[in-house]
Amino acid sequence: MKYVKDAWYPVVWADRIGRELSRHVVLEQPLVLFRREDGRIVALQDACPHRLAPLSLGKLKGDTVECGYHGMTFDCAGKCVRIPGQEIIPANATVAAYPLEVKYGLVWVWMGDAAAADAAKIFQLDQYGAEGWHAVQGQTLRIECNYLSLCDNLLDPAHVTFVHTTTLGTPAGATVPVNNEYGDDAITVWRWIRGAQAIPLFAKYGKLSGAVDRWHYYNYTTPCFFAIDMGSCVSGTIPDAADRHEGIQMHACHLLTPVDERTVLQHWFHVRNFRIDEHDIDAELTADLDKAFQEDKVILERIQREEERNADYKRIVLGIDAAPRKMRRMVDRLIERESAGADR
Ligand code: FES
Ligand SMILES: [Fe+2]
Repeated sequence: MKYVKDAWYPVVWADRIGRELSRHVVLEQPLVLFRREDGRIVALQDACPHRLAPLSLGKLKGDTVECGYHGMTFDCAGKCVRIPGQEIIPANATVAAYPLEVKYGLVWVWMGDAAAADAAKIFQLDQYGAEGWHAVQGQTLRIECNYLSLCDNLLDPAHVTFVHTTTLGTPAGATVPVNNEYGDDAITVWRWIRGAQAIPLFAKYGKLSGAVDRWHYYNYTTPCFFAIDMGSCVSGTIPDAADRHEGIQMHACHLLTPVDERTVLQHWFHVRNFRIDEHDIDAELTADLDKAFQEDKVILERIQREEERNADYKRIVLGIDAAPRKMRRMVDRLIERESAGADR
């Protein structure tokens, strides 16, 4: 298994789930989602135990799902409650029901042992919903690359100067070294660039002119969740990094869901502390951020194809790769630990 199963993964924006059956794939497992009559959302395994017909091809009847092939019907717990033409329901006529929570407007499912599902383990961003901050739902990008390549990218301030020239970067960053801090299941990669021009995005929305001090903190938690803290202030006005909320600051959260080995969903939203009542800028700001993330998508998908064409290729390791390499070791360790536990 190349995925961490004991984790909450965001599947889809909750407002996309209604009274119809919708199919999603997480860690190569097919799920069918629907909204119950009381408004709660349910996630079941999208495979009828009779012949593996996707239940999403069937019908939602009240709060039960009827298979579209021979009509076996399942309740919200995944238990078969009806088999047309027979009275006795076999005990193994069940589908998995996934623990599910809604947070940040996203539907999260727990893909591991259901008994270990703890909602407190869902990715946490303290500023979301807090006084003085404005949260804006972003989008979902489907990227045809391995999820760890996208994780590499989101732990990599060095690419910003070259890839995001019109949005998130300026040439000034190219030679400023990055700092790495490691926890047990977290990494922060950060740098400050002082006395520089504002990045295009903050020049546009933050109305900053003249020299600024600006920062990027790439905060990673296993297996594939990121809160990227970026901001700026008039140069010299925030000497202590702990005070960066006094500047204009944004947390762009990227919450990844591996679909399979070469497909990942990148769900993202932002939370900001400037122009928080000006909701009319939200759509344009989201579009500008999307433009930047599309720039990553183009490169990552090309890299994926090249890697597949060059099976023996070994990466050259640069100094900027320290954090991505550490991230991959953390994920490997979690996967190894899970498979050791499963063997016991
Ligand atoms: S495949 Fe679902 S009832 Fe036969
Ligand atoms: Fe990027």
